[in-house]
Amino acid sequence: MHTFMFALLVAALPLVPYPQYVKEERGSFNASGAHVVASAKASELSAAVINEFAEQYALNGSERNRISFRLRPSMPEEAYAIKVRKHVVKIHASSNRGFVYAIQTLKQLLTASNEIPCVTIKDSPRFGYRGMHLDCARKYYSVDFIKKYLDIMAFHKLNVFHWHLTDDHGWRLEIKKYPRLVEVGAFGNIGSRADFDSLAPYPVEYEGYYTQDDVREVVEHAAKLGINVIPEIDLPGHMTAAMAAYPWLGCTGGPYEVIHVVGPRGKGLARDSLCPGKESTFEFIEDVLAEVMSIFPGKYIHLGGDECIKDRWAECPECCALVDSLGLQDNELGTKWQQLEVWMINRLSEFLAENGRKAIVWDEMLEGALGGNATVMSWRGVETGIKAAKRGYDVIMCPVSRAYFDYSQSGFYDKEPKAFAGIVPIDSVYFYDPQMGLSEAEAKHVIGAQANMWCDVIGSEEYVEYMLLPRLAAFSEVQWCKLDNKDWGRFKSSMDVVRNYYDANGYIYARHLWGVIGLPGYDSPIEN
Ligand code: ACM
Ligand code: ZN
Repeated sequence: MHTFMFALLVAALPLVPYPQYVKEERGSFNASGAHVVASAKASELSAAVINEFAEQYALNGSERNRISFRLRPSMPEEAYAIKVRKHVVKIHASSNRGFVYAIQTLKQLLTASNEIPCVTIKDSPRFGYRGMHLDCARKYYSVDFIKKYLDIMAFHKLNVFHWHLTDDHGWRLEIKKYPRLVEVGAFGNIGSRADFDSLAPYPVEYEGYYTQDDVREVVEHAAKLGINVIPEIDLPGHMTAAMAAYPWLGCTGGPYEVIHVVGPRGKGLARDSLCPGKESTFEFIEDVLAEVMSIFPGKYIHLGGDECIKDRWAECPECCALVDSLGLQDNELGTKWQQLEVWMINRLSEFLAENGRKAIVWDEMLEGALGGNATVMSWRGVETGIKAAKRGYDVIMCPVSRAYFDYSQSGFYDKEPKAFAGIVPIDSVYFYDPQMGLSEAEAKHVIGAQANMWCDVIGSEEYVEYMLLPRLAAFSEVQWCKLDNKDWGRFKSSMDVVRNYYDANGYIYARHLWGVIGLPGYDSPIEN
């Protein structure tokens, strides 16, 4: 009996990511019939978010109990405070984001019986950039699914959605000046569909695109949740779908075909890349970026720069002439062809900067004299991120070994759905520290961390959710919690409660934490 009571007293509130400061008090607040009051000074956006919460949880009653949202402009942008007492819940924040995060915490505090334990919480994140990525080029996912994905991200207090919209296998974004990008680039990735679908119990969409109105809808939904959307136009490699539409973008002039993800050419990298030797390539990209900037209001645009095969450049008279005229030579950073790619990215980064935006690029761009304005996204390992920070670039860490959610969640390959051959189990995600191996000064360059969801192998929306949850919960503590506040045991037992929210919202999630492996009905071998 005593042991049991002791356990009850010391168990932390089941909050994920765990707040910076939590002080539990006696008693609880009964939310049944309570009413919500939003300060008249809260922004229109916050008022909408608060009203939605009140409606969803039927908090528009007439009882004395009150939940009050108050603007406190002196608080840091993403901070929030919650004070729960027997008859009142007070929430303070200086921005919509603070209110959104407070609401997520309240959702986790609300028990099935509508009681909120009395508590004082003061909270703010460790990192300002807390991202999640989704590859919508290899597979097409509906706008409704993207909005659900954003809801899941917001529940875990993330603030950046990295939307991978273009690749060898699909161009998903309507660009009015170049209609063939979607007419050709969003279709054709069908090959022998049966190869893949026969392995999947859920439907897989290979074709489709987002209109500019779809993008506006996604961006608006994200803004309400405090999430910035970063579009990625991945160049100069990973561009076959665009080159299939406009063959003059390549060195040879084509013809090119949209590549099918499960066909013989779906694995490995495409040989053809955009031709930097022709001025028309830059006109095209700048036109595309101008339309991108007109529909994505955020500061960052992702320009890619990963895995570019340069064989054609060495055989292309225009590319060879450009390398010579720029005087590029192999050096300690990389080959002259790698430096040509970095030169190309620098030129486009400057174009973005002239338009008040900032480029993010994959870490291959360290293989040349990358312009100082670019932020590096470190994916190939922890080392590349360290290298970028030491060279003074801002870095977002998303190393394959810890943050690639397209990798299998366990080594039980016969039970796991098809995935890449690596394993990224939830505990390895949890124990990642994006600033490890860096001095204090270097660590300041790490602006945050992101997990990536590539969909070359992953198929359906259900499968994406299975790969996302609950690893995203673990990653949210990497992104949000100060190191002292991380505790694997506390996290695991909290997830027993957090999963009730997943169940209530019909989310599909992996159950390795509870001793079950695999996606129900999905019984296929790993990709070798
Ligand atoms: C990447 O995973 N190719 C950035
Ligand atoms: Zn060329």
